[in-house]
Amino acid sequence: MNTMAGSLSSPPKTAFDGPKAPRDPASLDPVFTVSGLSVFYGDYEAVRGVDLNIGHREITALIGPSGCGKSTVLRCFNRMNDLIAGARVSGKILYYDEDVYGDHVDPIEVRRRIGMVFQKPNPFPKSIFDNVAYGPRVNGVKGDLGSVVEEALVKAALWDEVKDKLKASALSLSGGQQQRLCIARTIAVKPEVILMDEPCSALDPIATTKIEDLMQELAREYTILIVTHNMQQAARVSDRTAFFTAEVDDTGVRHGRLVEFDETSRIFTNPVDKRTEDYITGRFG
Ligand SMILES: Nc1ncnc2c1ncn2[C@@H]1O[C@H](COP(=O)(O)OP(=O)(O)OP(=O)(O)O)[C@@H](O)[C@H]1O
Ligand SMILES: [Mg+2]
Repeated sequence: MNTMAGSLSSPPKTAFDGPKAPRDPASLDPVFTVSGLSVFYGDYEAVRGVDLNIGHREITALIGPSGCGKSTVLRCFNRMNDLIAGARVSGKILYYDEDVYGDHVDPIEVRRRIGMVFQKPNPFPKSIFDNVAYGPRVNGVKGDLGSVVEEALVKAALWDEVKDKLKASALSLSGGQQQRLCIARTIAVKPEVILMDEPCSALDPIATTKIEDLMQELAREYTILIVTHNMQQAARVSDRTAFFTAEVDDTGVRHGRLVEFDETSRIFTNPVDKRTEDYITGRFG
C-alpha cells in the first residue's frame, strides 16, 4: 500500500539530541538520493544528468558560476519548480525511500517538510509575531502559538533581539534580522530540511557571520542545502560541496552539469577535476 498520499514517509525524529555527532566523512547517510536529474524550461535543458546524495544533518553547498543551474537544482528538492510555468523535471529525487515527484505526493506537504529561505529577506508586511505564526496557523496548529513562535525565534538566534517588540512590523528589522526572521518562519512549521539560496548575499559581513553561525547550530537538527557564490562561505560552513558548471554541447547549447561532489575539505584542497580546481583557484573563464 502506498502510505505517502498527502505526506512523505517519516524521517528520523528531529528533536535536539545533544551535541552533533562527529561526521564520518566516508559514510554519507542519505536524506536525498538524486539520480539522472534533468530540468527543462520549455525545450531548454537547463541542467542535465545530475547524480547526488545529500547527507542527513549535513550542510551541503552548491557552488559554481552564474547560470550553471544551482538555483534550478535547489528548487527541485521541494518542488518549487512546479510553480514555474514550463519547468519540467526528469530523473529521480528520493527523500529517504519516497519519490518526491511521485503521483501521490502532495507538493504542499513536500514544501512544509523541506523549507526554503531566499536570497532577499522576504518577511510579510505583518508583525514579527505574525510572520512566525503564519505557517503554524495555516497548518491549523491550535493551542499555544506564543510558545511555537518563541521556540522558532530562539532557534533562529533572534529571540533576544525581538522579544520585547513582537508586535512591531517585521519590516522595521535590519536586513540580517529579517533574514533570521525568515529562517524562524521556516523553522516554525517544523521542516526537516532547509534549502537556502544565497541567504547572505544581501547582508553585511557581521550579519553574514551570524547566519553562518546559525547554520552550524541548525545543522544539529536539520539537513541544510545552501547555494552560495561565496567560496569562503562554502568552505567555512559546509560538510560537502557540489561544484556545477555550464557546458556547451555539440549543438552549441549550454547545460548545467555537476562536475564534482565531495567532502568540502577535499574539494577546496585536492579536487579531482581540473574544472573544479580552476574555479576554486579563480582561474575560471
Ligand atoms: N524561469 C526560468 N525560465 C527559463 N529559463 C530559466 C529560468 N530560470 C532559470 N533559467 C535558466 O536556467 C539556467 C540555470 O539558471 P539558474 O538560475 O538555476 O542558475 P544559477 O546557477 O542559480 O545562477 P546564479 O548564480 O546567477 O543565480 C540559466 O541558463 C537560466 O537562464
Ligand atoms: Mg541562482
